[in-house]
Amino acid sequence: MQNANHGFFGFLKIFFALDRKTDLDQGLREIERITMRSRKIVLKMNKTVGCIIMKTALISGITGQDGAYLAEFLLQKGYFVWGLKRRTSLFNTDRIDHLIKDVHESNTHFNFLYADMTDSTNLIRVIQDTQPDEIYNLAAQSHVKVSFDTPEYTANTDGLGTLRILEAVRLLGMTEKTKIYQASTSELFGQVQEVPQTEKTPFYPRSPYAVAKLYAYWITVNYREAYGMFACNGVLFNHESPIRGETFVTRKITRGLAHIALGLQKKLYLGNLNAKRDWGHAKDFIEAMYLVLQQNKPDDYVIATGITTEIREFVRKAFIRIGINIKFIGNDVEEKGIIDTIDLNQFESVVGVPPAHLSIGQVLIAVDPTYFRPTDVNLLIGDATKARKQLGWQPKYSLDDLIDEMVLSDLEQASRKKYLKESGFIVRQSLEE
Ligand code: NAP
Ligand code: GDD
Repeated sequence: MQNANHGFFGFLKIFFALDRKTDLDQGLREIERITMRSRKIVLKMNKTVGCIIMKTALISGITGQDGAYLAEFLLQKGYFVWGLKRRTSLFNTDRIDHLIKDVHESNTHFNFLYADMTDSTNLIRVIQDTQPDEIYNLAAQSHVKVSFDTPEYTANTDGLGTLRILEAVRLLGMTEKTKIYQASTSELFGQVQEVPQTEKTPFYPRSPYAVAKLYAYWITVNYREAYGMFACNGVLFNHESPIRGETFVTRKITRGLAHIALGLQKKLYLGNLNAKRDWGHAKDFIEAMYLVLQQNKPDDYVIATGITTEIREFVRKAFIRIGINIKFIGNDVEEKGIIDTIDLNQFESVVGVPPAHLSIGQVLIAVDPTYFRPTDVNLLIGDATKARKQLGWQPKYSLDDLIDEMVLSDLEQASRKKYLKESGFIVRQSLEE
């Protein structure tokens, strides 16, 4: 009502200003002010009406791989989605740019708020303002190797960050309303105590990241038991995609492959080639997150494909996709991946150019101990029987489908880069690996 009065008096002011013909500029400025104000009112109404008729989800870690896929998935299900984003000095919304609409549009069901997992006052305020039905806590310093360099920050964000969310919901009296999904991880199994790993397998974390996530796991269970909260852990095994962070091993391999195939890079340096991971597609895994919160009772679930593959084998499978057969020779830090054979037709049909710069025996993969971790996890393989039975969850993508998608996507990106480079443009060369 107050806003309507503003509008009415505003129009009167313009009318008199124009009528006196004394100050046309002032009138135009007034029109602009009123238009801005009415846009804000429409925006507020959208949000209010939206929140009343649709479920509201709050996703921390919205700019990450899983945040992006989950936001897209929940928007398709008719949710109003709030994404929590920390402040960065450069734009980092590439993964979700396609979901962002001009906030002045009437059908915007997706919006950002600034938040940092290390700031409880901030988290309390955003949870109070958005009144979410479901919180998906995906924000984390998620790189295991980096956690050895930044252990305290990792503990603060990944461990205490989870406590801050749980406590915010409790303090705000929203325990009956808000369900919480905690992004737990197969890294908890670390030095595995049984094969395959299930919900009952004892944990043995092997990195500051995993130890921080162990705290997050148990504090989630504790708040569920102590306060009756609908708080659940999804113990997810590795999941990848074309938008996977570039420094995780699968993406590093498919990006490196694309650069090598197009002559933008000579060799790819990796760390521990012996490790085995149970890799799935992120699109399948975010669906499991949603299902976890749709159950009648809160619980914890292992989400995995049940198939494990060595890093070395992932490399071979990826290169086979472009017709290059890689043979590994040598041991430990001296191990190399060399070109054994090249299927020229396959290479040209997938890459689009002949492999003129590549030859049999050429070294494409080498080991750099920089990428070794002080303690690594050598084997992960999950048993998702409980999720299959209770959630009805099953992965749709095979590892070959995943590799196929990642290789093609990285080839496309590398082709663009090559084209720009050859046309004289400066292309970004990230040396972070
Ligand atoms: P990711 O791509 O690394 O995304 C992490 C997200 O957290 C990013 O949006 C990042 O923001 C945000 N973030 C980091 N520190 C933050 C802070 N202090 N405050 C606010 N936001 C912060 O990770 P992901 O692969 O999507 O994984 C999502 C979650 O699942 C993580 O918790 C991860 O530990 C867990 N998980 C992942 C896997 C997997 O295989 N992908 C498996 C099991 C569990 P910036 O963009 O600004 O960095
Ligand atoms: N990143 C990386 N870079 N890893 C390498 C490399 C390399 O050059 N060479 C070998 N590896 C090995 C690592 O030592 C590790 O054993 C394995 O490849 C997988 O490494 P990442 O892809 O970095 O993933 P992660 O398994 O350590 O952690 C990911 O999965 C966890 C779930 O199990 C992350 O997404 C975590 O956030 C997640 O919790």
